[in-house]
Amino acid sequence: MSDTLDAQQGALRSQLLDQVAAAADLAALDAVRVAALGKKGAITDLMKGLGGLTPDERREAGQKLNALKDEIAAALDARKGALEAVELESRLAREGLDMTLPARPQARGRIHPISQVVDELTAIFCEMGFSVAEGPEIETGWHNFSALNIPPHHPARQMHDTFYLPDQDGAKDADHAETVLRTHTSPVQIRTMLEEEPPIRIIVPGRTYRSDYDMTHTPMFHQVEGLVIGRDITMGHLKGCLIEFCKRFFEVDDLPVRFRPSFFPFTEPSMEVDIGCSRKGGELVIGAGDDWLEILGSGMVHPQVLRNGGIDPDIYQGFAFGMGIERIAMLKYGIPDLRTFFEADVRWLEHYGFEPSDTPSMAYGLTK
Ligand code: DAH
Repeated sequence: MSDTLDAQQGALRSQLLDQVAAAADLAALDAVRVAALGKKGAITDLMKGLGGLTPDERREAGQKLNALKDEIAAALDARKGALEAVELESRLAREGLDMTLPARPQARGRIHPISQVVDELTAIFCEMGFSVAEGPEIETGWHNFSALNIPPHHPARQMHDTFYLPDQDGAKDADHAETVLRTHTSPVQIRTMLEEEPPIRIIVPGRTYRSDYDMTHTPMFHQVEGLVIGRDITMGHLKGCLIEFCKRFFEVDDLPVRFRPSFFPFTEPSMEVDIGCSRKGGELVIGAGDDWLEILGSGMVHPQVLRNGGIDPDIYQGFAFGMGIERIAMLKYGIPDLRTFFEADVRWLEHYGFEPSDTPSMAYGLTK
């Protein structure tokens, strides 16, 4: 009996040890464990059979079975450790990270100061009830000059350093045949008056062109035009609107604003607007101080300009203004050289540019 048991156990032992050694992964090894030591496992079965033996036989066979059980359990543990190590190795190889790679670079796109300032002034004027208008960058001499009270041969035409394009065929007169890159955004005043009935309240941000190049001039630059037409628009409205704009744009509540008599062919009277500043030790500070900075031109729309726009000056009047976007951007953000705006240098843009997500708004602030 005991010999038979010994033979049985010996066969089971070598069979189980072979199976443990052959288990190729943790799942296969667990199946071997269940088949040996589980509730219905081979060793468990033999344990159950001990009940039918005499006490002496049971002690001896029991000790041998326990030894077998321990040996198999130890073999299972050892194999499990080996398989886990293999699996870890292959996972490490599979999921390997190269720690010498550079970290993901920061997105480098920035909003150009021109776009930023256009968004800022749009936010300010739109809150005042203005809407944004546009016009073509290639204009006729009539829209760019004559309709704005600058007749051919007027000295103001020479002052504009105009880029001329070939005359257009089939135009109704020489003034409409003459084709130029617009020298200012003012022609959009005429186009808007011809298209819309008053009341009119528009701003026109856009590109303008003059043949000039130095520290403060580039052949392409930007202006924003403003036009307000209604039955009882007065110089009081002009002043209130522009004073409010200056304070909000430069974000200085007690900013001094000065209106100085000037001349533009398309406004009468005409004024230039200055804001207060101080220059201490070479640094320009905008706000109450002992100096002034010119920032824009303005005036009451000339009656002849209203007529050219198809509007009766005996019923309507209005005001207009125009300013250089680069100039106010340079003043607000301390950018010293105009030409750098158009050099497309990423280092410059990283320094002077704005976060794409910080859209200017009156509610959340113009600049973060
Ligand atoms: N168009 C003028 C320029 O380019 C700027 C300007 C001045 C526009 C007075 C206006 C204005 O509308 O009223 O220098």
